[in-house]
This record gives sequence, C-alpha cells and structure tokens, in this order.
Amino acid sequence: MLFPDYRPRRLRQNEAFRRMVRETALSVDDLIFPLFVIDGTGVKNPIQSMPGHYQLSIDNLVKTANNAYELGIPAIMLFGIPKSKDPLATNAYAKNGIVQKAIKTLKNKIPELIVISDVCLCQYTDHGHCGIVNGQIIDNDATLDLLARTALSHAKAGADMVAPSDMMDGRVAEIRDILDENSLSNIPIMSYSAKYCSAFYGPFRHAADSAPKFGDRRTYQMDPSNAIEAIREVTMDIEEGADIIMIKPALPYLDIIYRIRNEIDLPVAAYNVSGEYAMIKAADKMGWIDGKKVMMETLTSIKRAGADMILTYFAIEAAKELNKMNIEHRTSNIEF
Ligand code: PBG
Repeated sequence: MLFPDYRPRRLRQNEAFRRMVRETALSVDDLIFPLFVIDGTGVKNPIQSMPGHYQLSIDNLVKTANNAYELGIPAIMLFGIPKSKDPLATNAYAKNGIVQKAIKTLKNKIPELIVISDVCLCQYTDHGHCGIVNGQIIDNDATLDLLARTALSHAKAGADMVAPSDMMDGRVAEIRDILDENSLSNIPIMSYSAKYCSAFYGPFRHAADSAPKFGDRRTYQMDPSNAIEAIREVTMDIEEGADIIMIKPALPYLDIIYRIRNEIDLPVAAYNVSGEYAMIKAADKMGWIDGKKVMMETLTSIKRAGADMILTYFAIEAAKELNKMNIEHRTSNIEF
C-alpha cells in the first residue's frame, strides 16, 4: 500500500494510538539492578564515573536494594569488593566473604527480591585477572575449580541465581556439576556467554577495583569484531547447562542481541554496562542531551533488539519513569 492510500502518520496522531500500535514495551519486570558491596557500616563511597552509584556497606546495601524492590524491580546483581586480594582469590569463595555475608542479610531482610551473584575472580586476585595466572598466562583449567567453589559459596549463602562473568572455557559445566552435587539443582545459572573485551567497562573497574595489573583481558573476553563466534559461545554455555544467557555490553552489540534472540530459545539478558551509563550521565550533565529521554530510548532499543531482561545502572531511575508513565496513562481530567 502506498501514499496516499496508506498514511503511516494516521496511527501516530496521538498518544493513545501510539500506545496501541507500540511493538516494544519496556517494563519494570525487565530490569536487574547491579550493586557494589564493601565491608564496614554506614559506608556509601560515591563512584565518580557512575553518578548516583556507590560502594555500599551491607546496611546501606539493604536500604538501596529495598528501594529497588519497592519500585517493583525483581532482581539485583551483586558485586563484592573484598578487604584483601591474593593470587588465588581466596576471598571470592570464603564462607564469610563480603558477598556471602551480603547475600545472607539481603535474603533475610528482603526474601522476595531475587539476588543474583556475579561469579568472577578479578576483584579478588592481586593481579586483577579473572583467572589464576601462571607467569603471564591466564590458566583456564586451574581457574575452573575456584569459580565453581565461588558459585557454590554464593548459592549456599542463599543466592537465587549465579552469574559467571569470567569467560573461562568450561566454567558453566563445572558450576552446574558442583551445584547439583550439593543438592542445589534448583539454582539457575545466568551465564555471561558473549562477553566482549570492551573499553566500556572502564567505570566499573574503578568501582570494583578490578582492573588487570598487567596486560588485558583479550585472551579470554571476546574480540569486538566477532559475531558468529558469539553464537558458538552461547551454544556451548547452553549445552553446559546455562539457564539464561547474557550479551555484554548492550548498546554497541545490539546486532549480537538480535542474532542470539533469533537463534536461541532461552531467555536472553543484556548488560547495559558502566561506560554506557557514564556516557549518558556525562552528556546530560553538560546539558548536551536530555539524559532521562536518552535513558528510556536506550533501554527500549535493547529490549527491541531482543533482550528479555536488562542489567542496568539506570534501573531505579527507569523504574520510577515507567511507574510514572503508567499512572499518567490512567489519570483523566474529566469531572463527573
Ligand atoms: C567482572 C565483571 C566486569 C563487569 C562485570 N563483571 C568487568 C570486566 O570484565 O572487566 C563489567 C560491568 C560494567 O562495566 O558495568 N569480570
């Protein structure tokens, strides 16, 4: 059908029509809120490159998590900042490590909020790599057992789901095995399957103090130029037992989200990472863009590309915006 018989503008003429034909609806249900936990009490260290985000001690973490819960956000993703680091990342799988303690408290205070724990070693190793190092080499197979022990310690502390972000080969199978052996077969794995070696992680590495002390992560995280390989990574993780697969970062990799959504029949998560957040915040602060509108457009585009859920530092702001929109749609000015 061509103009003038068809006029696409007919269905754009007011908000009610636009809502009726809208193809993608972002919902608070889609949001997962990442949080950083650190030792101490009353701690709320601002993260400079991520305005509005903090390293939180457990007491403040519970308050922020509860804020998210009350806005309807179903889940948080937890990252720990340990007291000390060593070559074997012992604090990653310590029974009383910071994440393990935080999970226990969170599940005790807000039992219905889903707690997902990031499983990785980079915050806990003194060299900042996601695996055990042998000279300058990241030793894949020697790392698997430590990752599995870390995941198990999180699940034993009460985590609802574990999320390995290290990108070692074979870790999903190792984690699935150890959970099953410990009667934790009901704990799902959200695997960071297609995690690219990205400069967009910069602000996060300040926040979590996890930058590598030598070299970079190119031998384990994916080359940004590759798309077909993402399918292979995702397929491997599914065969190893992943329940949800993740693409990360989100905005520069919308094509990957789209491809994976079309190929795979498991839930797909996308991580709208720290650098994506920082860019919008910075441009908004300069007055160069309308940060709130760009946030909503960005999150909608990630959903439109095919993500079922979005990990985002905007979760609280976006939830407030979505809740407000819902109320606005229902408010009429008619007097009876
Ligand atoms: C740890 C990890 C990273 C992120 C999540 N888990 C950093 C990295 O791989 O260096 C990045 C998250 C973000 O930038 O928001 N492996």
